[in-house]
Amino acid sequence: MATAAKGKSAVVEKTAAEQVAVEIAGPSRREFLYYIWGASIVMLLGEATAGFIWYALPRFKEGEFGGIFPVSAAEIPEVDTAPVSVPAGRFWLSNTSEGFLALYAVCTHLGCLPKWVGVNDRFECPCHGSKFEDDGHYIEGPAPRGLDRFSATIIFTNGDVETTNGNGDPIPLNGREIAEVRVDTGAKITGPPHGA
Ligand code: FES
Repeated sequence: MATAAKGKSAVVEKTAAEQVAVEIAGPSRREFLYYIWGASIVMLLGEATAGFIWYALPRFKEGEFGGIFPVSAAEIPEVDTAPVSVPAGRFWLSNTSEGFLALYAVCTHLGCLPKWVGVNDRFECPCHGSKFEDDGHYIEGPAPRGLDRFSATIIFTNGDVETTNGNGDPIPLNGREIAEVRVDTGAKITGPPHGA
């Protein structure tokens, strides 16, 4: 009887010893592969989420060149008067009889900054003499085209909202009162060719 009890105790001890051995040995090869696979999936999802957030965030702050510039109605020049410069945004606000434009302030020849010359009613580049109309159309000089434009969105007090089309044509105001203009300096539109 005592011998049987002793044998049973030995079996229990052996089982416990085996259990300890298994715990010391750690996960099996299959379990280890599962862990690696799981960790890879988590890392992949993390990278994808970080990439999505990076692309979703605006790259430029509002009011920073490359981003959106809010312009109040008070800053818009009267129709057919001298364009107004917005140096921080590197553009001119121009209100012609055809409508409103935001003209990129950089000459399309070699990158100088044309000035508005009121007595001649046109932009004139100080570097090589290119000249442009108030809507940026090319007049003369070595510039390969008219001034480039930025896409703009006008919010009118009557609730209308209009955005520059793909050609960068002026947005007609048609007597509507402007509430706000938003100029997108990250959306440059190539200026009109000679003779356009
Ligand atoms: S940079 Fe303007 S004409 Fe040359």
